[in-house]
Amino acid sequence: MKLKESTLIAIKMSLILSVVFLLSLLYFIMVYHIPLWLSFVFYIFFLLLSIWVIQNYIERYIYSKIKLIYKFIHDHKVKKPSSKTNKKRFPVSLESVHQEVLDWSKDYESEISQLKQLEKYRKEYIGNISHEIKTPLFTILGYVSTLSDGGLKDDSINLKYLDRTEKNINRLIRIVQELETISQLESGELQLNKTVFNIIELTNEVIESLEIKAQEKNISIFYSKSYDQAIYIFADKNHIQRLLSNLIHNAIKYGYENTGKVKISFFDMDKNILIEVTDNGPGIEKNNLPRIFERFYRTDKARSREMGGTGLGLAIVKHIVEAHQQTISARSTLGIGTTFGFTLEKAKQ
Ligand SMILES: Nc1ncnc2c1ncn2[C@@H]1O[C@H](COP(=O)(O)OP(=O)(O)OP(=O)(O)O)[C@@H](O)[C@H]1O
Ligand SMILES: [Mg+2]
Repeated sequence: MKLKESTLIAIKMSLILSVVFLLSLLYFIMVYHIPLWLSFVFYIFFLLLSIWVIQNYIERYIYSKIKLIYKFIHDHKVKKPSSKTNKKRFPVSLESVHQEVLDWSKDYESEISQLKQLEKYRKEYIGNISHEIKTPLFTILGYVSTLSDGGLKDDSINLKYLDRTEKNINRLIRIVQELETISQLESGELQLNKTVFNIIELTNEVIESLEIKAQEKNISIFYSKSYDQAIYIFADKNHIQRLLSNLIHNAIKYGYENTGKVKISFFDMDKNILIEVTDNGPGIEKNNLPRIFERFYRTDKARSREMGGTGLGLAIVKHIVEAHQQTISARSTLGIGTTFGFTLEKAKQ
């Protein structure tokens, strides 16, 4: 059995004290002829009593000293709603205080590293926003300067530059609108308007709206099998339309001209429906895949920007899925293609 530290100190001190007691006891034995067995009982009694008194005194003293520290730690823990020790009083033993302090320091360590991570993410995010906005702004400035420096009268460039200026302004508007959507989704400000609707019908509408873009690249969009029966889901229709549109648009945008194929599949998963959008495009590298849903993350920044991409499409997709308390994942093989799969709640029949 392992003795408490305070007990060990008490034993040591009591042994020292007992030497003094023993000497006085010897004096009494010799002068008053006290029997040896009685002296022995006295001695043991004294020893045990002094151990008990000293130990109590030490513990009380240490308790009074650390109580203030513990109270400070405890008050901090109580401020956190998730704290497991909310209703706890001052612990009964020094060991439990030790454990509490260890737990507390571990909690704070992980909180600090989380905050550091968030801070890093925030810095990166602000850097990304300013970079994304700066590029079209300087392009606009370039065109407007050329036009005002006499280019306006030059018929070979004036309309072309005005047209490019308009395109860049539209790009800026898109970035701002998409950032607004993301922050609304993140803050929970955007209320979901969930209704029951047929996901096949909605997918047909999305395919129709992207038909021209697909035809331009001669890319075919089809279902994995013929879905004659309606599949009813319970979700926010506008958001799901946007989500499907972003995924199918990406499959077309990054797909190969003439040979590109986009396949849409639905799988019954008990309470949910799994929807997959698969393409036979260039695929996404393994190390890029986990970051694909981050804001402004693009595997090929220059190419995506050239294509008018803001790098916010998949971030919005992820937020929409999460707002529905559902999940999304991506799997991809370079040179073979990519599949995005997400779940939605089935409507109750
Ligand atoms: N189906 C896909 N095949 C290959 N790469 C893809 C596919 N979908 C997305 N990506 C990669 O993921 C990146 C992020 O996609 P995301 O939709 O978020 O941005 P974007 O398409 O560049 O811009 P936006 O969607 O805002 O117009 C893209 O830049 C592209 O590199
Ligand atoms: Mg996109």
